[in-house]
Amino acid sequence: MNDTLVVYYSFTGNSKSIANYVKNKLHADILELEPMVPFSTDYNQVVEEWQNNDIKRDVEIKKITTDLTKYKKIVLITCTWWYGISPVMKKFLKNYDLSKKDIIVASTNAGWIGHCFKDYETLLPNSNIKGELNIVFSAEDNKRDQMLTSTEEIDNWIKKL
Ligand SMILES: Cc1cc2nc3c(=O)[nH]c(=O)nc-3n(C[C@H](O)[C@H](O)[C@H](O)COP(=O)(O)O)c2cc1C
Repeated sequence: MNDTLVVYYSFTGNSKSIANYVKNKLHADILELEPMVPFSTDYNQVVEEWQNNDIKRDVEIKKITTDLTKYKKIVLITCTWWYGISPVMKKFLKNYDLSKKDIIVASTNAGWIGHCFKDYETLLPNSNIKGELNIVFSAEDNKRDQMLTSTEEIDNWIKKL
């Protein structure tokens, strides 16, 4: 039985592509997190709305149907929003129990990862965080889907999972 689950939230698709890449390499299962009410399709409006991405501020998310008890290892991948993990990922970590599992975390961003890894640690006090990866994409408006972190770095991280 497969004991690894990749859980991700992606607003514009970058984390989604990484999550699928990891899933395929590890032959893992995958779970996409979704907000209950979709965010605006206006990128700049969302950037403005989430300026206060405090650890206490989160959103309602759709209920998941995946049985988390089946998995020993969980790979968490999210976009960075205002120097922290996305509110959707925060809500997932607040709502569901991942204690005692082996956790691997990644954060996609445009070069300013801020306190994402600290957020994961704060919200997962009883989990075993085993690996972290910072995945940088371009900050330029029309190139936001261009990955600057090398595929080799991602492959090396995956090999250690
Ligand atoms: C609301 C919002 C806030 C963001 N804040 C940051 C930030 O603090 N640091 C950073 O490097 N990138 C920031 N970004 C850029 C995204 O983290 C980056 O483009 C990421 O690769 C997007 O992943 P996704 O396509 O999975 O949503 C922000 C984007 C949005 C929409």
